[in-house]
Amino acid sequence: MLKIAPSLLAADWLDLRASIRLAEEAGADWLHVDVMDGHFVPNLSMGPDVAKAVVSATHLPVEVHLMIEKPERHLASFLAAKPRAISVHAESTYHLHRAVQQIQVGGCQAGIALNPATPWETIKPMLPLIDYVLIMTVNPGFGGQPFIEAVLPKIASLRQYLQEKGLDLPIWVDGGVGLPNVEKLRTAGANILITGSAFFRSEDKTVFVQQMKGSL
Ligand code: DX5
Ligand code: ZN
Repeated sequence: MLKIAPSLLAADWLDLRASIRLAEEAGADWLHVDVMDGHFVPNLSMGPDVAKAVVSATHLPVEVHLMIEKPERHLASFLAAKPRAISVHAESTYHLHRAVQQIQVGGCQAGIALNPATPWETIKPMLPLIDYVLIMTVNPGFGGQPFIEAVLPKIASLRQYLQEKGLDLPIWVDGGVGLPNVEKLRTAGANILITGSAFFRSEDKTVFVQQMKGSL
């Protein structure tokens, strides 16, 4: 079954605890924390202290999505926040393997995030070494952008390759994800759907999560 990870970028920042409760009560599986540096992406967002506060305020596993240049400079601070998983962008560092290693040695699951224009084949040698792939279906930096349909074949082709190689790697998808595209994502072979605006704008969040998971 698909898993759902609400993105706190679309939460009420003045009352994050209440937004976290909404996600928990709705049956979410993860919480997604977006970190932006104003360099890798043209926006700024949360840092390690907020990630730490979120981890301390929930029983859900927390995934930290680092949209920052040279993420290895900040990995120690994010590892100290004790999330369950951290993803780094393939495009954000010269030393992707080192960053992945640092995350895993720090006791976290390591994911590699890919911008819409980056082919998954770029990270082929890394696939046996990582814990998940996070495929962006918008250009990272902002919530509320439209889903880029053209990324769907990339998800399907990655899923097919993983199957051929017997690699049991979850594919996360991030950006513009909601009810209009959930079926296509399921068919393409996605496993965990990150949803910001669609989740926090939905009237009945429990129903939304069930609909997304296909159990309603
Ligand atoms: C975009 C972020 C996403 C964002 C998704 O750069 O990585 O996680 O919060 O938000 P929606 O679901 O509104 O596209
Ligand atoms: Zn994200």
